[in-house]
Amino acid sequence: MALDPTPAPAAPQPIRRSQLRAPYLEALLAYGHRAPQRLHVPGHGGGRGADPALASALGLSTLSLDVPRDIDGIDLGPTPTPYQQAEQLAAEAYGAARTWFLTNGASQGNHAICLALAPTGAEIVVQRNCHGSVTDGLVLSGGSPHYLLPGYDAERGIATVVTPDRLRAALREQPGARAAVVVSPTYFGMVADIAGCARVAHDAGIPLVVDCAWGPHLGFHRSLPPNPLHEGADVVLTSTHKHAGSLTQSAMLHVADGRPELRDGLDRAIRLLRSTSPSSLLMASLDAARRQLAVRGAPLLGDTLAAADRLRDRIGELPGCRILDRDRPRPEIWAWDPLRIVVDVHDTGVAASTLARRLRDVHDTQLELHTHTTLVLVVPLGMDESTAHHVATALEAAIATSERDGGTSPPAIDPPVPADAAVPRVSPRDAFLGPVETVERAHAVGRVSAEAISVYPPGIPTLLPGEPISSAALDQLVSLHAAGLRLHGASDPDLGTLRVTAATR
Ligand SMILES: Cc1ncc(COP(=O)(O)O)c(C=O)c1O
Repeated sequence: MALDPTPAPAAPQPIRRSQLRAPYLEALLAYGHRAPQRLHVPGHGGGRGADPALASALGLSTLSLDVPRDIDGIDLGPTPTPYQQAEQLAAEAYGAARTWFLTNGASQGNHAICLALAPTGAEIVVQRNCHGSVTDGLVLSGGSPHYLLPGYDAERGIATVVTPDRLRAALREQPGARAAVVVSPTYFGMVADIAGCARVAHDAGIPLVVDCAWGPHLGFHRSLPPNPLHEGADVVLTSTHKHAGSLTQSAMLHVADGRPELRDGLDRAIRLLRSTSPSSLLMASLDAARRQLAVRGAPLLGDTLAAADRLRDRIGELPGCRILDRDRPRPEIWAWDPLRIVVDVHDTGVAASTLARRLRDVHDTQLELHTHTTLVLVVPLGMDESTAHHVATALEAAIATSERDGGTSPPAIDPPVPADAAVPRVSPRDAFLGPVETVERAHAVGRVSAEAISVYPPGIPTLLPGEPISSAALDQLVSLHAAGLRLHGASDPDLGTLRVTAATR
């Protein structure tokens, strides 16, 4: 089966008048301001019955907008209802055929993607260090993953991105795969060659899914990498709350034009996963965030990017600090998200964890993440020069006043195990839901793992549910644990025992 050729990248579109509206938010405001007699859930009755401290914290006007589903004039009545219009406007802004609002984060989107594209027994190629919600989605769906390794920056112990060549090789090994899932941008702001990956997937007759949880803003300013839908991706997941100004837990799932079969499957899956009481506040925030991006995204992002650049300049001048996206280029990284600043602090002589702690405790400055060599900063929309100045000054002070405590010793980072793409022996669903037993580490090799275990670095899971446990994988976990690193997801944090699928008798 050959899919349509990859569409040519779209030129930036002028703002459409329709985008000036936020129909769901407007309908909700009209209902709240009308102050009707509310004899329906939620039981706080628009705020009157709420705990006074909560009412004072959130404000009565916020609580009056907290309404259930099926309110006439909001998501019931003549179609398209304001709710349907809001999703249509989001689809228009992102260049999708259909967009769904999600109120359980991008995690819900990954669950839906797995249910729709990798049902029981169906094979799917999945980037090995995808978010845990993909593995969870496969547990729900019963799909059978073929894991695809991303590139790896061994110096810093950071996974990079999947390349079209790696994807092609994986699809050759797995000709029955029904879809391919890649992550772009990554947690570290690395963007993959999506147009190249889409061509490879389409040549193989399958859709490309891009987990773009970290890129809801992509494509809304000319200095940003394009939105993956404009580069030929078929299904794109954006975690709107992460970078585009909506409330925590709100996200969107988009499907490209010309994929009606994907659209129907995703629609069914989302209905199955959706609460019957989705939060109106979250959905209104999605409607508003879409309008803001579409209407004033360019100036807002322009100012934010200018402040982010200033911060990069300042940090880049600090002795021992290197900004990853200004460092040596790596061929597999197609672009960087400039709203992510990753600082390699190795040459300061101070451990990244010490700097992150000092920034937090002394300067009340909270970072998104630190690894053993890097500090990861998420640049919020609207960050201004004064915040940039504060952060750079605080980091300078933290470096100057911290003890040199090991940042200078070269990081010893093993390459990820397994060294190449792997196919689990049993499906994640059977490994997770089937009978399990706990075995001593000495007896674990050759058994099938019932747990996912990851260490940072390398940040690529060493074991995933359903995979046979190799001695190389186990040795890697033992040595990383001995080096003091945490084994994320391990049922026994000291790895004395492992949870494996029960032996068949
Ligand atoms: C790549 C990726 N996909 C999906 C998710 C899940 O997003 P959410 O927290 O919105 O459920 C995350 C969360 O960090 C992520 O990093």
